[in-house]
Amino acid sequence: MSLYETLADEIARSIASGVLRAGDKLPSVRDACSARGVSPSTVFQAYYLLEARGLVRAQPRSGYYVNVPAESLPPEPGASCPDGESTELAISERIFDILDSVRNRDVTPLGSAFPSPLLFPLPRLAQAMAAHLKRQDPRDTVDDLAPGNPRLRRQIALRYLIGGINLPASDIVITNGALEALNLCLQAVTQPGDSVMVEAPTFYGALQALERLGLKALEVPTHPRTGIDLAAMEAAIERHAPRACWLMTQFQNPLGSLMPDDRKRQLVELLARHDIPLIEDDVYGELYFGPARPVPAKAYDTRGLVLHCSSFSKCLAPGYRIGWASAGRYAQRVQRLKLSSTLSASGPAQGAIAEYLEQGGYDRHLRRLRETLQTQQERMADAIAHAFPAGTRVTRQQGGFFLWLELPAAVDALALHRQALSRGISVAPGPIFSASGQFGSALRLNYGHPWDARTESAIRVLGELAREACSPAARMRPSANVSREARRPPRSS
Ligand SMILES: Cc1ncc(COP(=O)(O)O)c(C=O)c1O
Repeated sequence: MSLYETLADEIARSIASGVLRAGDKLPSVRDACSARGVSPSTVFQAYYLLEARGLVRAQPRSGYYVNVPAESLPPEPGASCPDGESTELAISERIFDILDSVRNRDVTPLGSAFPSPLLFPLPRLAQAMAAHLKRQDPRDTVDDLAPGNPRLRRQIALRYLIGGINLPASDIVITNGALEALNLCLQAVTQPGDSVMVEAPTFYGALQALERLGLKALEVPTHPRTGIDLAAMEAAIERHAPRACWLMTQFQNPLGSLMPDDRKRQLVELLARHDIPLIEDDVYGELYFGPARPVPAKAYDTRGLVLHCSSFSKCLAPGYRIGWASAGRYAQRVQRLKLSSTLSASGPAQGAIAEYLEQGGYDRHLRRLRETLQTQQERMADAIAHAFPAGTRVTRQQGGFFLWLELPAAVDALALHRQALSRGISVAPGPIFSASGQFGSALRLNYGHPWDARTESAIRVLGELAREACSPAARMRPSANVSREARRPPRSS
């Protein structure tokens, strides 16, 4: 056996015995050379061999990381199957109750919607804010009113341009986070009583926005890998004549699905044929694990029907509340709604982010963030594979920072959420992602926090709770499913 094969076998044995675990970084080529007294080409060949065997993956400009063996992971969930009806919403209270309960800092935040704030360049942003405030001509503050700081809008447009998308800076309206952008866009294209197509499951913020505006949700089947089902969408359009569609084409929350490019194009064409505006939520677009940033559906929009929304909240500056909308033919309406509601986003926050982007370094930060998230995802997926009961299904996200788990039907996700909270762990239970009370046995878990002993133990506890719920004794108790039925919100067609 050659030297490199011996080295590769040794590393493979360390992986098999658990000394090296999913997400661990292999020693750098230089360290491996000096530790073993071999040449760089021997180490490289050993690492290539391990990569070819699927045991490790190369992370450009970073190194080699241990993979979770695909066969050791639970299977993936299939496409969802909503009932195809248009649903009036009464879900906001439940969502508030659950979100309130996960805010406690002492709780392990697996139910949180944000990655750890420690992953962001907050000191550099603070310096950028100071530099901006020092240089600012007080008369410039008027520039920050809607549509927003021109330097920031230019920087955002430039980033799209580099990604191959022409979004004129003049079309971009700066908002208080993506949530305001999405709400303004929804308001710009609907009237109370209209139906709006959403994914099943969907981001609970979308359901709350629909409820607030007196709109009905039309849930469309969605696949955890490829996103919303276009044939089902066409059938829903024929049947219910929805006024708009709100969805995520990339790293959907909670499923993590990424629509392939040709499906994004087909989606835009389908909606254009029916003159239906698409509100595209792209807050996780920068958090891809593949080789390049995928393009949003907005890239295929030739008729100005895509209202594209995003923000810096998940990838750079949580708490700054800076987002934007590029609303195509609705741009002026959105800008006026912004002016007549909250006037503008914070001037200093807009200026700080513009300054930071102009200084450079954002892409370096994003590279590190994506690497960290991917490693943490592998660790969590591996831990779930060991802790959860048979029958559990888990998504394989290609970006973002959530895993979606579908547990055996005996598990009541709302009950599990309460039990977990009493043990100091938050989870996001499946029903908050559904207008019609579906996903009663599903959970969304956040892997955007450092993988440490506390998180590892939290996964073990969740696994135990889920196993207990599946045990014969637990199944003798009054049915979890009955109590879930009783909590279903009202429905109308
Ligand atoms: C899918 C999705 N869209 C939008 C938002 C809101 O983004 P922002 O914090 O920028 O308002 C969130 C935050 O949780 C989200 O998960």
